[in-house]
Amino acid sequence: MQDKSDELTARERGADLAEVCRALVPAGMAVAGGPIVAPSDDQRGLPPTFSRKRRAEYWSGRYYALQALCNLGVIVNGLPIGGNRAPVWPDGIVGSISHTDSLCVSVVASKDKFHAVGIDLEENGRVTPDLFSMLFTQRELAAFDRLALKELFDFVPTLAFSAKEAFYKYCSPEEYFDFLDVEIEFDTRIPIFRVRLVNPKNVPVTGEIFYGRWGRLRDHVLTVCCSDEVSAGGFHQGPSHKRS
Ligand SMILES: CC(C)(COP(=O)(O)OP(=O)(O)OC[C@H]1O[C@@H](n2cnc3c(N)ncnc32)[C@H](O)[C@@H]1OP(=O)(O)O)[C@@H](O)C(=O)NCCC(=O)NCCS
Repeated sequence: MQDKSDELTARERGADLAEVCRALVPAGMAVAGGPIVAPSDDQRGLPPTFSRKRRAEYWSGRYYALQALCNLGVIVNGLPIGGNRAPVWPDGIVGSISHTDSLCVSVVASKDKFHAVGIDLEENGRVTPDLFSMLFTQRELAAFDRLALKELFDFVPTLAFSAKEAFYKYCSPEEYFDFLDVEIEFDTRIPIFRVRLVNPKNVPVTGEIFYGRWGRLRDHVLTVCCSDEVSAGGFHQGPSHKRS
């Protein structure tokens, strides 16, 4: 018999994504997400090296980002690509985009309330054991070893990887830093993760511990990392970016 989940349309899966995302982000952030929808033939302003798939995910990201901005009351025509590949957000706005082969999501907020935000969406099981030594520290690998159930094992590395990607986007670094420069800690019963800086000198934010939230869709993991140092009383500590 076919699993009922297989019958969900792309649009229904997209609606699930937006709902899970809304539940993860603190009040004051606007989100939009759904299936990869954008036309893949539109090449305006894009590098000629972009494949059809890359164009589709790029335009989908822009589509949902503009929708999220609109939810915040900000109307813009487009979002250029920045020097570090991050989108150039309108003045006074922080935001982030993530896409997989089938889904795409964006979150935005006013800089008056949030210093930065990073979001990441990953298909479950994408992080296979051959990648572990590149992505995870010895301490993280030891924590994986203590997991008993196979499905947990499949899901946890994807979550740890996604949390690192969300943190990377949160930092929006000018220069790449490595997966082994940070460690992720979490308890799978609680939808919060901690990011610990292992090599603080490589990471362009000050602080030792950062927090994020995670959630699951049927076959995806979603992570969000943000700070709310401007507005008191939110759920994150308030790290700040190193000033150059
Ligand atoms: C940039 C990167 C984080 C993207 O993550 P991904 O899972 O491959 O892809 P996603 O779809 O989730 O995210 C892509 C989006 O991230 C955003 N992005 C790209 N570079 C970024 C940066 N430096 N800062 C913030 N956001 C960035 C863009 O919006 C991009 O989509 P777009 O090109 O269509 O606009 C990843 O490819 C990468 O290069 N990582 C560097 C190494 C790293 O993560 N180290 C971990 C340190 S803990």
